[in-house]
Amino acid sequence: MACSKALQRSTTLLRNPPVAFEPYIGQRSCSWWGAVQMGPPDVILGVTEAYKRDTNPKKINLGVGAYRDDNGKPFVLPSVLKAEKRLAEKLMDKEYSPISGTAEFCKNSILLALGEDSQHVSNGQNATVQSISGTGALRIGGAFLAAFFPGPKDIYLPTPSWGNHGPIFRHSGLNVKSYRYYDASTCGFDFKGALDDLSKIPERSAVLLHACAHNPTGVDPRPEQWAEISALFKKRKLFPFFDMAYQGFASGDVAKDALAVRAFLKDGHQIALAQSYAKNMGLYGERAGAFSLICSDADEAARTMSQIKILIRPMYSNPPIHGARLVTEILSDTSLRKEWLGDVKLMADRIISVRSKLQDNLKKLGSSRNWQHITDQIGMFCFTGMDQQQCEKLTKDFSVYLTKDGRISMAGVTTKNVNYLAEAIHAVTK
Ligand SMILES: Cc1ncc(COP(=O)(O)O)c(C=O)c1O
Repeated sequence: MACSKALQRSTTLLRNPPVAFEPYIGQRSCSWWGAVQMGPPDVILGVTEAYKRDTNPKKINLGVGAYRDDNGKPFVLPSVLKAEKRLAEKLMDKEYSPISGTAEFCKNSILLALGEDSQHVSNGQNATVQSISGTGALRIGGAFLAAFFPGPKDIYLPTPSWGNHGPIFRHSGLNVKSYRYYDASTCGFDFKGALDDLSKIPERSAVLLHACAHNPTGVDPRPEQWAEISALFKKRKLFPFFDMAYQGFASGDVAKDALAVRAFLKDGHQIALAQSYAKNMGLYGERAGAFSLICSDADEAARTMSQIKILIRPMYSNPPIHGARLVTEILSDTSLRKEWLGDVKLMADRIISVRSKLQDNLKKLGSSRNWQHITDQIGMFCFTGMDQQQCEKLTKDFSVYLTKDGRISMAGVTTKNVNYLAEAIHAVTK
């Protein structure tokens, strides 16, 4: 009642504005959004905020999922800088991209994933679109499964999985379920648990697989384990949806990191594939990625492609152009591509080397714990096996910032802070 009176009054006031406007509409109870509750902050951004507030000069941020150089600074790849200069000289227009992105970008992307000699690509079996980085690719895939998947509208995620997977697929209209993946007792892959769970889920279900550098654990199946997983998918008629957010970034070799994707295709699976250029080209904010479906033939690919475009149109109409142009410039030029492969290897090698340094330092400090998993795991993240209490102590006593699940971003570790980090970890895990 009071609210409607206030609204009435404010409408009159708006028609005849007074000298000093009384902010009735601004009152919480009268606002359109008065009932909106405060949502929880993003866990990872919360870690960075706390890190920024800390005045300890030795502080380390191991929450962030972006590569840093050995000085702890963001890294723009030299090959990307070169591509930027070339694009600037071309003075290209800023017209809309096609709904699916340019054909050249899509072709380069799928060939990077499947290999230059891919039969699937030469046969026209791929329906590939540019996406808004890896997140957008997963979201398009989720929407496509929700609309057209002939099996149950469920998707099975490994436990644990990247924190955004669940929300993305739920937002797409799918039911999110899980299968065992990580073995906390070994800080490694729970191969038996994964096979057990995957052999019990309903046939014709969709299952998400991290192609390489599993986030958050850094634990990947070995090639022979992938072969068994692929055979089980065949037997149980499961649909593999690969999320490949780290191609090249894990081992430093783009073909090695695509092993699982290529092995599944060789075994005759049809797959969905999400690609991202955030990590391997350092194009985080450019939002360049790709979504593909590998179909049974070119006609099916054309039909699925038409439907993917229909799904994209009302979501964001068409993708951003600049990042995609950078990717195209790099991948389509032999010498620039070679330079980029060197840049990717440089990033991967730095991560691999700080893993060894951290492990060596912990050994030297006399830690009685087994830290083998630090070097067994791969990619941006290491699942240390530290519990919540130990993580909190690491932050409180040593200003080392990380998520409470014990995940550390190896990208935040440098030759300058690795000794201090080892001392801190040793102190809280003694
Ligand atoms: C497993 C995984 N998938 C997808 C993404 C998506 O990243 P982006 O949308 O920045 O490409 C990430 C990013 O951290 C990731 O770790």
